[in-house]
Formats: sequence, structure tokens, C-alpha cells
Amino acid sequence: MADAVSHSVPSHVAIIMDGNGRWAAAKGLPRVAGHREGAKAVRRAIEAAVNHNVRYLTLFAFSSENWQRPVSEVQDLTFLLKHYLRSELAELHAEGVQLKVIGERERFGEALAQELEAAERLTANNKRLTLVLALSYGGRAEIVAAVRRAIAAGVKPDELTEQNFANFLFTAGIPEPDLLIRTSGEQRVSNFLLWQLAYAEIWFTKVLWPDFCGRDFADALEDYASRERRFGARPV
Ligand code: IPE
Ligand code: IPE
Ligand code: MG
Repeated sequence: MADAVSHSVPSHVAIIMDGNGRWAAAKGLPRVAGHREGAKAVRRAIEAAVNHNVRYLTLFAFSSENWQRPVSEVQDLTFLLKHYLRSELAELHAEGVQLKVIGERERFGEALAQELEAAERLTANNKRLTLVLALSYGGRAEIVAAVRRAIAAGVKPDELTEQNFANFLFTAGIPEPDLLIRTSGEQRVSNFLLWQLAYAEIWFTKVLWPDFCGRDFADALEDYASRERRFGARPV
């Protein structure tokens, strides 16, 4: 449970990386060009998180609902994910980044799911930054899956608490996000981390994800630092 202390640097930043398609459309390019450019913004966001001493960075890369997109776009995104993993893993590992995946990774196929698992194992002891990739992730699906796991583990109704329930979520062991950033001007949560965002501060920007840079990250952190988090208690 979060306590009512104000910390100037968020320990955990979560980002809904949105606007790749609009970025491409504005330039008369196919959507995939926006996704490709978005991968570069991912690099910048990781770098910014490390520079600001953020400990956890969660990136929403593909939602449970994104499977409804045309097959060709899903294929492009899957290809880019595979490519990103292969080209970035060594450097992420060298920089002390620990990789974790939340969501239904098996929906991307056995081979990619295993590759993701191998990347998690390789980086498991890294301490500088924990990078959580939300892939085929949906908050409602996660909560239902957690309820099922709790039942399967034999937890009795009156034994279930907010604390032990959180251990059945994909994010077990990861502290809740302090700050949620969403790019592209949309102001909604889109089924992201429904349980975990209960008391996150939210920062929206009109910047489209492929244009997101270190300055934007710093702006979000600056705004965060000026906020008073009360968690329902009285201001101190
Ligand atoms: C975010 O960009 C990436 C994913 C959701 C996979 P979009 O593809 O949603 O881009 P817009 O929102 O259509 O501009
Ligand atoms: C949310 O963006 C999912 C990701 C960023 C991966 P969407 O573009 O899918 O969300 P909606 O459809 O605008 O709510
Ligand atoms: Mg979108």
C-alpha cells in the first residue's frame, strides 16, 4: 500500500504510448512507419527513465483489444516487437535493465513467448531499471485471471485481501505506478493497469508517441513533483 509521503521523483512511471498511426498519417506515411518511429521513442523513454533515477518503467505496447486491428497491422507490430527485442536486448542488459513482460504473451505464438521468457531470465538480476512491457495486456483480463489463480490456489473468500490479491496479478512484486503518462491527446485509460492505477497521478500530452523525447519525460516529472498526493487522507 502506498503511504501519504510525497516523493519528488516517481519510483514507477507507466506510459500509454499512443499516436503512432496519426503521426504517420500526418506525414502521408503508412501506419507501420509510425510504429517503427515509435520504437525509437521507446529508446528515448528508457534513457530518460534511467537518467532521472526512475526505478520502474511500464510501457503499454499492445493491448488485448489491439488484436481487433487488421491482421496486417498486428503482423507489423509483432514483427517490430521481435526485431526490437533482438536488436536491443544486449544493450539493455549491459545497461542494467531488467525486463519483465505482463499480458498474454502466448498469444504472439510459442516462439516469441519463449524469446521473451529468455530475455526475462537473462536480465533477472539487473537492478538499474525494471522495464515492464505490457504485451497483449488488458486490465480486466488481468483481474479475471488473478481471481481464477486465487481460487485455484485455494484462497478462501474471507482470506482474500487487497494485499494478497495483488500477488495474483501479472504485476506481483512490482510497486504501483506513481505517474501515468498518455501521449497523443487522448484522455482515457484504455483498459491499462486498472487495479494498479488506483492512486497514480496522470499526465496527458498532445505530443504523438513517435515525437516523444527526453524533454517531454522531464516535463511530466516536473509536473509530478508539484503535485500533492493525499491517497484520500487529509493534506499534511
Ligand atoms: C499506439 O499508436 C500503438 C498501439 C496502440 C499499438 P496507435 O496505433 O494507437 O496510433 P493512433 O492512436 O491510431 O494514432
Ligand atoms: C492504447 O492505445 C493501447 C496502447 C497504447 C498499446 P489504443 O490506441 O489502442 O487505445 P484507444 O483505442 O484509443 O482507446
Ligand atoms: Mg491509438
